Amino acid sequence: MIDPRIGRIVVGEDELSERVAALGKQITADYTDRPPLLVGVLKGAFMFMSDLSRSIDLPVEFDFMAVASYGSSTRTSGVVRIVKDLDIELTGRHVVIVEDIVDSGLTLAYLRKTLAARRPASLEVCALLLKEGLQKEEPDLKYVGFRIPPDFVIGYGLDVAERYRNLPYVAEYAGSKQS
Ligand code: IMP
Ligand code: MG
Repeated sequence: MIDPRIGRIVVGEDELSERVAALGKQITADYTDRPPLLVGVLKGAFMFMSDLSRSIDLPVEFDFMAVASYGSSTRTSGVVRIVKDLDIELTGRHVVIVEDIVDSGLTLAYLRKTLAARRPASLEVCALLLKEGLQKEEPDLKYVGFRIPPDFVIGYGLDVAERYRNLPYVAEYAGSKQS
């Protein structure tokens, strides 16, 4: 895809597949005796969830939820709304939230609070990307794929106005964030 708005590659395809496979192995080891329920946060996490789950050698279950933050598309306001809730009850389940990227950490803080209230047996987070230096306190993430600089990125599930999700790598966005 030739597009001048696709900037420098931040995480390449090979790096992604290696690291995602390693995370899957780690989850397999940590959850052998209690196969987890993977909760993917739509839409950004769909590709990561798909690849990650194929590296988990356990009878995992899947569910998805969709959240939207009020405000503009590239900045989080911290006020999050559930657009699609889970189908599966969390009570007594070992839950792993699968997130694409943690920026301010506000979306995750909201999700954690909301899902913890449903009394899962355990609740951990697996985030593909963590933007460095943007959180007021170190977010509580059990699994992190990559720590990246705080630039806006696209690809491997991440979008600007619903585009670029299908790029097989993560790149800086070199366009105007308004469009
Ligand atoms: P937070 O609440 O500030 O941590 O923002 C998290 C959400 O904002 C993510 O789940 C993404 O949907 C979106 N987001 C944050 N940073 C980026 C980015 O660099 N590219 C694409 N989406 C992003
Ligand atoms: Mg998004």
